[in-house]
Amino acid sequence: MGTSDLHIPCSDLPKYTTLTPYPRSPITPTPSSLSERFRLDGRVAVVTGASGQLGHAIARGLADLGASLALVDVAPDKATILASELGAEHRAFEADLTNKSQVQDLAKQIGDHFRRVDILVNNAGIGVFTPSEDRTEAEFASVVDINLGGTFHCIDAFRELLADGGGSIVNIASVYGVVSPDPRVYGDSGRNSSEIYGATKAGVVQLSKYFAVHFAPLGIRVNSVSPGGVFANQAQEFVDAYVNRTPMARMAAAADMQGAVAYLASDAASYVTGHNLVVDGGFSAW
Ligand SMILES: NC(=O)c1ccc[n+]([C@@H]2O[C@H](COP(=O)([O-])OP(=O)(O)OC[C@H]3O[C@@H](n4cnc5c(N)ncnc54)[C@H](O)[C@@H]3O)[C@@H](O)[C@H]2O)c1
Repeated sequence: MGTSDLHIPCSDLPKYTTLTPYPRSPITPTPSSLSERFRLDGRVAVVTGASGQLGHAIARGLADLGASLALVDVAPDKATILASELGAEHRAFEADLTNKSQVQDLAKQIGDHFRRVDILVNNAGIGVFTPSEDRTEAEFASVVDINLGGTFHCIDAFRELLADGGGSIVNIASVYGVVSPDPRVYGDSGRNSSEIYGATKAGVVQLSKYFAVHFAPLGIRVNSVSPGGVFANQAQEFVDAYVNRTPMARMAAAADMQGAVAYLASDAASYVTGHNLVVDGGFSAW
C-alpha cells in the first residue's frame, strides 16, 4: 500500500449528520430546587461491597437522602446488620459478583423485591499488596475478576432495570487508577499498592466512559469516583508518609466519599456522565 492510499479526502469521511441520531429526551428545565434534586426519595440504590468500609459509608449516605437500599456482598453479615439498622425498606443480598449467573440471579431477586432500580454503585473490590515480582497468576486473576469482572457483570445485569426510568451508575475506582502509587509512601514495609490493582482501577474509569457513551440513549448516566487512601488504622509509619504526601495533610475518611457518590447518583448531576470524580485531598494534584 502506498502512502497515497492512506489519504482519505475529507469529502469521503462520514458526516455526523448522516448518522442516526439518538432518541434524545427534550431539554426540560428542572422543576425542582437544588436541594430537592439532591434528594433520593423513592429511588432504589444497589450498593455492592456493602459489608465493607466504603460500602457502609456510601450506603448510609444514600439512605440519608431517602433511597431504599439493596446491600450486596459475598459476605453479607455486616450488610444484613446495616440493613436492619437502617430500616425495613432496606435489604441485604448475598452474591459473588465474579460469578455471572449469580449476578443475573441477584438482579432478578432485587427487581422482584423492589420492582425498580435507579442507582447502581459498583463498590466491591479488592487489592493485593505483594511486590509485582512475586505476583502469582491466581492473585492477578482474582483482582481482575472482582474489580473489572464484577463491575462489568453488575452493569450488564442491571442495565434493563436502570433503563426503565433513566438511572445512574457510579463505579468506585481509585486514585491509583489515575496516578501510580508513590513507592516512598510504602517504604520498606513490604506492602505496596500493586500494579494490577491500579490497572484494574484505570480499567474501571474507562469502563465508565464506555458505558456513559453507550448507555446515553437509554437515559443512564455512568460515572466513577476515585478515592484516595482511606484511613483504616494502618501502621503509623504508612499513615505519616501518606499524610506527608497529601496536600490536605490527612488520609480520607470513608464519609468523604458519601457526597461524591450521592451527587453523581442524584438529579443534581443530571448532565454529568463519563466523569471521573477524584476525591483524594489533592494527592494526585501534584
Ligand atoms: N479503602 C481505600 O483506601 C480505597 C481507596 C481507593 C479505592 N477504594 C475502593 O473502594 C472500594 C471499597 O473498598 P473498601 O476499602 O471499603 O474495601 P473493604 O474490603 O472494606 O470492602 C470491600 C467489600 O467487597 C466485598 N467483596 C469482595 N469480593 C467480592 C465479591 N466477589 N462479590 C461480592 N462482594 C465482594 C467484600 O466482602 C467487602 O465487604 C473498593 O473497590 C476499593 O478498591 C478503596
